[in-house]
Amino acid sequence: MLLIMAGTIIITGANGSLAIPAVQHLLTKYPDYTTVLTVRNILDDDVNTKKLRETLTKYSKADTSIRKLDLANLSAVHDFASTIAAEVADGSLPPLTSIVCNAYYWNLVGDAETTVDGYEKTFQVTHLAHAALVLRLLGSFGSNGGRVVLFSTDAHWPGKNSLEKYPPAIPDDLTMLVKPAADKPSDNFGRGFQRYAVSKLAVVMWMYALNRYLEKVYIYRRSLMEVYWDHS
Ligand SMILES: NC(=O)c1ccc[n+]([C@@H]2O[C@H](COP(=O)([O-])OP(=O)(O)OC[C@H]3O[C@@H](n4cnc5c(N)ncnc54)[C@H](OP(=O)(O)O)[C@@H]3O)[C@@H](O)[C@H]2O)c1
Ligand SMILES: *[C@@H]1O[C@H](CO)[C@@H](O)[C@H](O)[C@H]1NC(C)=O
Repeated sequence: MLLIMAGTIIITGANGSLAIPAVQHLLTKYPDYTTVLTVRNILDDDVNTKKLRETLTKYSKADTSIRKLDLANLSAVHDFASTIAAEVADGSLPPLTSIVCNAYYWNLVGDAETTVDGYEKTFQVTHLAHAALVLRLLGSFGSNGGRVVLFSTDAHWPGKNSLEKYPPAIPDDLTMLVKPAADKPSDNFGRGFQRYAVSKLAVVMWMYALNRYLEKVYIYRRSLMEVYWDHS
């Protein structure tokens, strides 16, 4: 029999249209798990956060918290990850069982934006900040491992999405992902959608890279532990 220990599930953009029903499903089907739900604005003056909080009141026994996390600010991502790691270490949170990287950002009506970190905002919120979060928290997963959930879209695949005007591609100079040149001529919808598609393409490629890394490092570590166990 496989005994599954309850753990902590982090969901970013937890007040979004997909996230709220997902949270509801989790709390109904997996009430033993602790959920950490991140939003940019934790106050009820954000109608979506208010809706999330109202959803949680139906599950008064659930171990859940709504926490502030702005992915457009990498210092905030680092602080959040450190707080979670410390809480897992001191036992106030069970070890992680999942990080659901659900949040995303696009801007289809204005020029490209730069975050306080100096990076293109769609790319940072959608991919970079999630990668920073996941990598900082790998050590906070339980010994049974867990699941990192990344979100993409058919827009990452050139020619598949009807809103595409410029196909997504990874530039030879990777710096262009975070510091792209100005759009000329300006086409906010077409270029905004392309920035979204490129970010999601990076998410897909990073998923494969992360998986290769985890298989190599963690399975190797586990087999070392097993070897040690066999001989002790
Ligand atoms: N809906 C679709 O048809 C569709 C199709 C393909 C893929 N997807 C993917 O599915 C996922 C969920 O989509 P959805 O339709 O549920 O989107 P949504 O309702 O717009 O929710 C997006 C979430 O991202 C959050 N977010 C935006 N900027 C942020 C920032 N700077 N820091 C932290 N959080 C931020 C938003 O929070 P705020 O309220 O704070 O802005 C919101 O909670 C996304 O990854 C999306 O790309 C959706
Ligand atoms: C970014 O996050 C850091 C750490 O939480 C915070 O001190 C800083 O004020 C934030 N910057 C902005 C522009 O919100």
